[in-house]
Amino acid sequence: MAKAKNTAFFCKECGYESAKWFGQCPACKEWNTFVEEPVGKSKSAKGIAGISHRAEASSVPVPVEINSVSFEENDRTSTGITELDRVLGGGIVAGSLVLVGGDPGIGKSTLLLQMCYNISEAGRDVLYISGEESLKQIKLRADRIGRFNGTLKLLCETNLDNIEDILTRNKPEVVIIDSIQTMYKDDVAAAPGSVSQVRETTSVLMQLAKGLNITIFIVGHVTKEGTVAGPRMLEHMVDTVLYFEGDRYASYRILRGVKNRFGSTNEIGVFEMQQSGLAEVENPSEYMLNGRPENASGQLLCAFLKEHVL
Ligand SMILES: Nc1ncnc2c1ncn2[C@@H]1O[C@H](COP(=O)(O)OP(=O)(O)OP(=O)(O)O)[C@@H](O)[C@H]1O
Ligand SMILES: [Mg+2]
Ligand SMILES: [Zn+2]
Repeated sequence: MAKAKNTAFFCKECGYESAKWFGQCPACKEWNTFVEEPVGKSKSAKGIAGISHRAEASSVPVPVEINSVSFEENDRTSTGITELDRVLGGGIVAGSLVLVGGDPGIGKSTLLLQMCYNISEAGRDVLYISGEESLKQIKLRADRIGRFNGTLKLLCETNLDNIEDILTRNKPEVVIIDSIQTMYKDDVAAAPGSVSQVRETTSVLMQLAKGLNITIFIVGHVTKEGTVAGPRMLEHMVDTVLYFEGDRYASYRILRGVKNRFGSTNEIGVFEMQQSGLAEVENPSEYMLNGRPENASGQLLCAFLKEHVL
């Protein structure tokens, strides 16, 4: 059974790891979620422990009194997008890791690039790292949004070790990783997008965010089937989880908070996809009621919540 030692089975939904295959995941109870992936000499467990040790500075951390820790509301930075700020609980918090999930083509990159535009306009250092698109493609999207000033930097990279070096050296205040499924670490044997890669790279990014006190946004694609690991298993690893949803046939998009260590998850943000990017919709009810028959008698309005399908 030499082969069995080099592979393990992972649940695509929650990341549960097992030496044998299960039809139903013992952890999250989902069916048919197990995939076999190569594992490199117990790297995953060792990797996380090693990183946390390194990121927490070279010396051994000492316990501190709670009253000596200060956090003021102005430690939050506005994204310049009111709807996004609200869903984030009042802006972005330094040292946090935010996951933005959503269907393909829904506008995740556009939303985050618009946020980068605003934050860089405010003179802060922002780094947008893409593993999916070329610099030209990003520029094309940026041109739709507006004219950027000099503080936004772009990088096309998928090797997380290189990214780690760059972040440690340059310490940008806000970093976008687009997307987590394209990132890889050399010492993880499985392919990018696999459960073990996604889990490992997210854990490194978490340590970088905390260790360097920078805010990292990661984009996660939501797929029902296939080899790409769904971002659901990342929900418990990150500070904040936002899902960007919408109707394929309508231009409005809804941003929902699913988890937030720094605010409520009862808020939503409503946007409309336009030629110049995502426009905020300040009065969603008025917007969504648009298009109903005018002057029709006996109208009944009913609000209902669509079940969260991922
Ligand atoms: N000129 C345009 N006018 C209006 N809408 C546009 C225009 N160009 C692109 N779009 C919209 O933007 C969407 C793509 O946005 P974006 O690339 O930000 O999405 P994404 O969620 O990052 O996608 P992916 O999953 O491919 O990374 C398209 O699906 C389309 O709806
Ligand atoms: Mg994108
Ligand atoms: Zn599971």
